[in-house]
Amino acid sequence: MSFKYDVCVIGGLGHVGLPLGLSFANKNIKTILYDINKDAINLVKNKVMPFMEQGAEEILKTTLDKTLFVTDDRDVIKDSKFIVIVIGTPVDEHLSPNFVLFRDFFSRFINLFSDNQHIILRSTVYPGTTERIIDYLRKSNLKTRVSFCPERIAQGYAIKEISTLPQIISSEDDSSFSEAEKLFKIITSEVIRLSFMEAELAKLFTNVYRYIKFSIANQFYQIATQNNLDFYKIYDAIVYNYPRAKDLPRAGFTAGPCLFKDTMQLAAFSKNNFFLGHAAMLVNEGLPYFLVEQLKQRISLENKVVGILGMAFKPDSDDKRESLSYKLKHILEFENCTLLCSDPFIKDPRFLSEDELIEKSDIIFIGCPHSKYNNLEIPDEKILIDPWDTMFKKDFKNKKQI
Ligand SMILES: NC(=O)c1ccc[n+]([C@@H]2O[C@H](COP(=O)([O-])OP(=O)(O)OC[C@H]3O[C@@H](n4cnc5c(N)ncnc54)[C@H](O)[C@@H]3O)[C@@H](O)[C@H]2O)c1
Repeated sequence: MSFKYDVCVIGGLGHVGLPLGLSFANKNIKTILYDINKDAINLVKNKVMPFMEQGAEEILKTTLDKTLFVTDDRDVIKDSKFIVIVIGTPVDEHLSPNFVLFRDFFSRFINLFSDNQHIILRSTVYPGTTERIIDYLRKSNLKTRVSFCPERIAQGYAIKEISTLPQIISSEDDSSFSEAEKLFKIITSEVIRLSFMEAELAKLFTNVYRYIKFSIANQFYQIATQNNLDFYKIYDAIVYNYPRAKDLPRAGFTAGPCLFKDTMQLAAFSKNNFFLGHAAMLVNEGLPYFLVEQLKQRISLENKVVGILGMAFKPDSDDKRESLSYKLKHILEFENCTLLCSDPFIKDPRFLSEDELIEKSDIIFIGCPHSKYNNLEIPDEKILIDPWDTMFKKDFKNKKQI
């Protein structure tokens, strides 16, 4: 049986779906992106990326209406051989994984699937989800193949990483695996086979490992700062020519839509016995409170003008999802101060330029260390709170001589 499209990406205009769809289309795979976000659809139809992603817009311009198609009509699912599902997987109000979201999704779409198709789950999912989805399909008398192939890209660098990172694939049987392997080998060179549960945990472990690593740096930062010590003087000494500490991250806000949520998913999976994960969540989510409390010990915020430079969750990105700069903003809103915000990539009419913010503020927080801030000149009379050490001059030997 032949299909009109090789691949349909459901959630195809999101941060994971769009770079993946572009990567397939760029290799002459006929790809249709299905999404419910009408604003994003209009942008992409006009060859404009709805978010920043290196190298993506060039591919969009050359593939649109040739091998890449965009729609909000879900009927295209019927016409596609592979159906890649990358809708978001948020946690619920109890901070537990929201399986209902997937169950509802499948119950609404079940009539669009057929036996000869292959569903590829690519969202990060709670362990056991893939087996439950297969169970649901089989109970609906569908033989549709199912694989779980997690996305492991770093947002902003997806196009490059999709082709260079090994792809983890888990499938129900050998022939499903071969089919999924054949598809992914078109865009990447290496694949690794795991069982469903192993692959689901591999994805969670990857993100949670990073989250915990950042929390170590943030905890060390807090210990040094509480003792009136310059954390980065100690940090530089630790990592300088010492291979076993080279991977110690710098401190800073650890945020975004994945790391915190996935740590919660793993905590729920381990029946809330994941003490290390819970500790990491307290440390990382507590950093904005820590910074404000430290500041209040030095100076009253009453009638002060406080500015936050950088509202995105990661440098040189326009993505503000789950950004801790916004948590910092909410904390500061409880204080009797005037609050100003700035970000070069996020469009918000209330935001000021960085020059204006620096000029008007008594106290300046670096919320996100965009690279254009590396050479900022902050006048000496301003108080600067910068857990990232954004303007650091990387000259450890000179530092040592001081
Ligand atoms: N962002 C990352 O860097 C990253 C990396 C690896 C894995 N993931 C995982 O990938 C998944 C998606 O994340 P994302 O960052 O792309 O989210 P996103 O919010 O950017 O994208 C999700 C897309 O799905 C669309 N959508 C939602 N419900 C839909 C529906 N019923 N039908 C069609 N489209 C629908 C949304 O409009 C949106 O465009 C999550 O599980 C996330 O944990 C994200």
